[in-house]
Amino acid sequence: MTRSRHPGSDLRAKNMFYSTLLLFAGLASRASAACTRATLQATVDAYLEAQAAGQLSKLPLAANVSYLENDVTMDVAAGVLSKAMTIDTNITILDTTECAAFAEIVAATNPHPYVIHTRMLLDEASKIKTLQSVVADTGDWIFNATATLQWTLKELATWKTVPKARIMPADGGRSVLRAAADAYLNSWTDPNWQGKVPYGTPCARLEGGLYTGSRNESANTCVMPLFPVQFNITNRRYVIDEELVAISVFNDFPFLDTTRPEGTPSANLFKLDGALIRYIHEVTVCATTNCGR
Ligand SMILES: *[C@@H]1O[C@H](CO)[C@@H](O)[C@H](O)[C@H]1NC(C)=O
Ligand SMILES: *[C@@H]1O[C@H](CO)[C@@H](O)[C@H](O)[C@H]1NC(C)=O
Ligand SMILES: *[C@@H]1O[C@H](CO)[C@@H](O)[C@H](O)[C@H]1NC(C)=O
Ligand SMILES: *[C@@H]1O[C@H](CO)[C@@H](O)[C@H](O)[C@H]1NC(C)=O
Ligand SMILES: *[C@@H]1O[C@H](CO)[C@@H](O)[C@H](O)[C@H]1NC(C)=O
Repeated sequence: MTRSRHPGSDLRAKNMFYSTLLLFAGLASRASAACTRATLQATVDAYLEAQAAGQLSKLPLAANVSYLENDVTMDVAAGVLSKAMTIDTNITILDTTECAAFAEIVAATNPHPYVIHTRMLLDEASKIKTLQSVVADTGDWIFNATATLQWTLKELATWKTVPKARIMPADGGRSVLRAAADAYLNSWTDPNWQGKVPYGTPCARLEGGLYTGSRNESANTCVMPLFPVQFNITNRRYVIDEELVAISVFNDFPFLDTTRPEGTPSANLFKLDGALIRYIHEVTVCATTNCGR
């Protein structure tokens, strides 16, 4: 048995050590509880229900939630979430590392058709602290919700399935997903990235209502050529789902809408099979009809 010259202070130090340990254990379990797939799925399901009903009260919002709709900060109550809509289909992905969730909504049979991509971040109490939506409707980039619905339904089973080929953490996990999505966006204007995008075969892109896969569904029709001008796609915000092997990248896309040289609100959603891109969905919002093109 060890003896101390100051048994009292040893005891205090020990108590402090254990209470600190307990504090950290408490914090750790609270943080991980907020970030299980079950919690994230429940939150994104609540979001879909809230949008369907047009009722914000169905959403677990933090008191000081920040809301961005098409790159404009606004009161969430003033946004599209307050409008009830018929949701024909949805795709959701979950990111337990960032405590984030993503939803794609296709509302084609709604009297006012919409296609919406939404990214949300949760706080430690599992409340939504950040909500960002790219809300597309008629006049936005090659918008056609009927076509979007038709092709999304065809792909849906794949989107909802864990692919046979996974990317294991030993292979880089989420960084592989992020590198694939970034390579795709970089390749649009940087010749150094052309030929380096991990496209699979088949690969199909749904851009607005335009589906590249309608040409040949067993081919890789995703390849983006080099744009005639140089620009950078900035403000990239990610939701990465290693389980479903899918990634969403919100971004500002310059060049397309000449009235928005700083970039127009855009979102790209990717589904991979192993490390190879299988499907891409792009939603881009225009300030002028069809971005003035
Ligand atoms: C979202 O899609 C799932 C099927 O993947 C479905 O069960 C659910 O009802 C859909 N939610 C809404 C609000 O449409
Ligand atoms: C929002 O409120 C939470 C809890 O009160 C606080 O921790 C956080 O810093 C606040 N965030 C902002 C952006 O004010
Ligand atoms: C939208 O897509 C549907 C289904 O592919 C097609 O029938 C319709 O003509 C398209 N609408 C427009 C305005 O292009
Ligand atoms: C479709 O693509 C596959 C794979 O690239 C190819 O083998 C096939 O010949 C193509 N079919 C047509 C009709 O072009
Ligand atoms: C794009 O970003 C790269 C790296 O930050 C920079 O070197 C380049 O000048 C940028 N290009 C344009 C057109 O802004």
